[in-house]
Amino acid sequence: MSHEIAVIPGDGIGTEVLEHSLPVVERATDAAGVSIETTTFGWGSRRYRSEGSMMPEDGLDRLEGYDAIFLGAVGHPDVPDHVTLGGLRLKITKGFKQHVCERPSFLFEGITSPLRGYADGEIDFVVYRQNTEGEYADLGGREYEGFDNEIAVQSSLFTREGTETVVRAAFEAASEREGKLTNVTKSNAQAHGMVFWDDIVSEVHEEYPGVELERLLVDAASMDLVRRPEEFDVIVASNLFGDILTDLGAAVSGGIGLAPSSNVDPTRTYPSMFEPVHGSAFDIAGEGIANPIGAVRSWVLLFEYLGEGTVAEMLHDAVKAQLADPTAPRTPDLGGESGTEAVTDDLRARIE
Ligand code: NAI
Ligand code: MG
Repeated sequence: MSHEIAVIPGDGIGTEVLEHSLPVVERATDAAGVSIETTTFGWGSRRYRSEGSMMPEDGLDRLEGYDAIFLGAVGHPDVPDHVTLGGLRLKITKGFKQHVCERPSFLFEGITSPLRGYADGEIDFVVYRQNTEGEYADLGGREYEGFDNEIAVQSSLFTREGTETVVRAAFEAASEREGKLTNVTKSNAQAHGMVFWDDIVSEVHEEYPGVELERLLVDAASMDLVRRPEEFDVIVASNLFGDILTDLGAAVSGGIGLAPSSNVDPTRTYPSMFEPVHGSAFDIAGEGIANPIGAVRSWVLLFEYLGEGTVAEMLHDAVKAQLADPTAPRTPDLGGESGTEAVTDDLRARIE
């Protein structure tokens, strides 16, 4: 049986890291005897500028039959970011009930953390970010634009389904890892949504009595991710807090070029989507120097999700071996001088 994967390269370096990660993926699937079939959808900012929308009206219907989706990145300097994000990525995450965004932070051997004194593997935590609602719900409006009494309202939305789903996934992950979950909240200042959030965490905790639960306000959590990152195992956070903390998580473990991400519907009613954490990075697009490792590690998450552990392991091991090898090619964000393709060629050569 072949896994059918929808591929959306998107914009900027999204297209570059995707193009170059594919031959690495192919090498691993061939070696493992796993068959995949990819279909590319040329949606993104170019389409927006020629046709007025990031993806077609029936975009979700077209994607629904696939086993998984891989997204490069979207975003263009000439198109407002809320248009590119809202017109594609958020449509897919919301439409396909991908309530759970999983983002691991792991300090690999050969990578120097900007935090002093951490050796490989000492930073190893995963953030479960609510992915469909919270502070990123499209709820609000503006009135009296341009007048002195102009107002803007931006509301957060927390549903039992959206909250419980990510909280349960986080407890599940904690019980399979070191048994520790940190709930990142702001219920001291946001007495409605975040108190509801905390209540759900307490409720679900009853199903996982073996998991040790810690509660941190988001401001303290950002401090502690710098002060004591080694103590975190699994973190659960709302959409906005998770967004911010995962950039911090990427930074302390070697940079955003290495960071992978998944957008998962745990019920598997709809396909899940995998993508590097970084955006389209127009400051380096077209230069051929984007780090492809975040994309390759996102493929690792995709194959784990598809139950293809051997392929996932091959890709992960290739990344691990490459980063640990001081003679291997590296992109400039990691202090090297090599391009994207040199890195993916080297990764491919490490898979037998
Ligand atoms: P970004 O992640 O594109 O870039 C931030 C910085 O990190 C830049 O200096 C960039 O050169 C560097 N960087 C990022 N990925 C890299 C890689 N693989 N290798 C080497 N260096 C890398 O974030 P930024 O600049 O805030 O956003 C640019 C555009 O991307 C915006 O339009 C934004 O809306 C969009 N974006 C899209 C996302 C998505 O599609 N999921 C996620 C984040 C941003
Ligand atoms: Mg972000």
